[in-house]
Amino acid sequence: MKKNLIHLSFAFLLACNLSSCQQEKNGFSMEHPNDSVTIVHVNREAKYLILPIQESSREGKVKLDTGSPADMAMDIRLATDSIDYYVPFALPEGTKEAKIVINKVKSNAICWDNIQLADTFSTENTDYYRPIYHHTPLYGWMNDANGLVYKDGEYHLYFQYNPYGSMWGNMHWGHSVSRDLIHWDHLDPAIARDTLGHIFSGSTIVDHNNSAGYGKNALIAFYTSASDEHGQIQCMAYSNDNGRTYTKYENNPILTPFDGLKDFRDPKVFWYEPAKKWYMIVSADKEMRFYASDNMKDWTYLSSFGKGYGVQPNQFECPDFIQLPVDGNEQNKKWVMIVNINPGCLFGGSATEYFVGDFDGTTFTCDTKPEVTKWLDFGKDHYATVCFSNTGERVVAVPWMSNWQYANITPIRQYRGANALPRELSLYTKDGEIYMAANAVKETRDLRKETRTIGNISVAREHTISEVLAQNEGAFELEMDLTPGQAQTAGLELMNSKGERTKIYFDREQNRLVMDRTESGITDLGEPTEFNVHEKETDDHRKVLSVNYVNDFALGTWAPLNLCEGTTYHLNIFVDKCSVEIFVDNGRIAMTNLVFPTEVYNTLRFYSEGGNMQVNNLNIHRLGL
Ligand code: FRU
Repeated sequence: MKKNLIHLSFAFLLACNLSSCQQEKNGFSMEHPNDSVTIVHVNREAKYLILPIQESSREGKVKLDTGSPADMAMDIRLATDSIDYYVPFALPEGTKEAKIVINKVKSNAICWDNIQLADTFSTENTDYYRPIYHHTPLYGWMNDANGLVYKDGEYHLYFQYNPYGSMWGNMHWGHSVSRDLIHWDHLDPAIARDTLGHIFSGSTIVDHNNSAGYGKNALIAFYTSASDEHGQIQCMAYSNDNGRTYTKYENNPILTPFDGLKDFRDPKVFWYEPAKKWYMIVSADKEMRFYASDNMKDWTYLSSFGKGYGVQPNQFECPDFIQLPVDGNEQNKKWVMIVNINPGCLFGGSATEYFVGDFDGTTFTCDTKPEVTKWLDFGKDHYATVCFSNTGERVVAVPWMSNWQYANITPIRQYRGANALPRELSLYTKDGEIYMAANAVKETRDLRKETRTIGNISVAREHTISEVLAQNEGAFELEMDLTPGQAQTAGLELMNSKGERTKIYFDREQNRLVMDRTESGITDLGEPTEFNVHEKETDDHRKVLSVNYVNDFALGTWAPLNLCEGTTYHLNIFVDKCSVEIFVDNGRIAMTNLVFPTEVYNTLRFYSEGGNMQVNNLNIHRLGL
């Protein structure tokens, strides 16, 4: 008998090995032809295969196999021994049969016991730190804002999106729309990763004159396809349904680097009226390149700008190029090139600088010397900032509110990545120099649900306001006119009952405004991951590994006060669960930082050292959607 049993189980094992073991589940079966390949056969109609994710697992390759050469395997961190969360993998509509082939995940991984079919996927928030009024994806990873465009009353916010996990990968263009820049509706991703590569950052325009031949007022998107096989090449896609879906141009790419550059990406396309042509600006390693076109398919190289300009060393990314009146004077307009750089931030990692100058239709000439760097934001969590097209005279920019140093390891799970508040850009003059202000858009006033008016306070040493809001979810705005007076240090602390605090203060000796998050809550975000370790070429062309990571989340960031006039500063401070954004004097200084307090800040303590400070017109607004 025993012998028979052994025989039987041996025969079963053999059968499993030869024809690979078939496991029947509800609506699908799974076979493991070998230890690192799994085939899922779906045999009933369902919307999703729900996949268990473990962020510390290596990426497996998950492909919906339709037999077409266009089938693309997605990189997904299927759970090996524990499950962090689930993501939905969409199945083809209207069919009972689907085959999903998964490579590079072991046959004993825990995911196989937990994958299932479903027709729904809950996107109800499960994250403590999810902002209340900033835009976030419902789930999955988000970085740069892409293809910002306004059309028929809708602001389209596309974004670098991974629908298959909350870490960077599988770049798609996610999509949200808004009528007021504040309330966002989440739509399906608009452009999916394909066999030409990840869909990297780019821009969208409204083709008013049908230059590309896809119809008057078609939306045309420009993005970089990025892959090891094809490198970084510029592609286009068009939409005739107000940006909901895009068709990729059949002859992509439309532009490749003439010198084989490895870093050549993030096309920004705009209409240049004097030449009556479309222009494209593309980041090309350490400079930006200009191109021109009549039909948006054939592009002619014009010029380059940027080598040696701004902070060094750097890598140029995500350009924008806008024209704005100086001090509101329509007769005196200047061109501004927005350059996102990573690394190079004053405070480590990624940041946004800009150059003011003139453009003659071919060449951009910067007003200042190469070594002059002007920052669009003085925090550490403001990146890949670009502007909406088709908004007329108004220029509105949207930043990604994170930093490549630690974006992948923030203490958030269901989604990762938020946008900072949309800001309106304008130019002002100070001491003969032109600077760009970035102020929270006026629509943010509609977020004010309730206002506690405190009025004026003279602070001799300190003044504490407890319970800033009776009903406080961690989303509020402080508004005030602050005069540091003779105080050496004058400012405020946002605090909670655990003693966690974010300090915002004026340092008279250094003439700076400082935001200090060293004691703001969770500040140790952990160790570097594969995302902050890069291969880099040294001057003598050796390849070395470089770590774009220092465990320095606990730091203070500062801005020079000589950007402002006078001795009283108008402050708007926006707090939203895990972020603090300061706008001084309508955006002459903007400063954006993430913070992770383990309880909401509900106490406001003003303090001054070495003299009195005056706080006038203090309002505390509870913010919500
Ligand atoms: C900037 C960036 C872009 C690139 C994208 C990839 O954050 O590196 O240059 O297109 O992210 O996700």
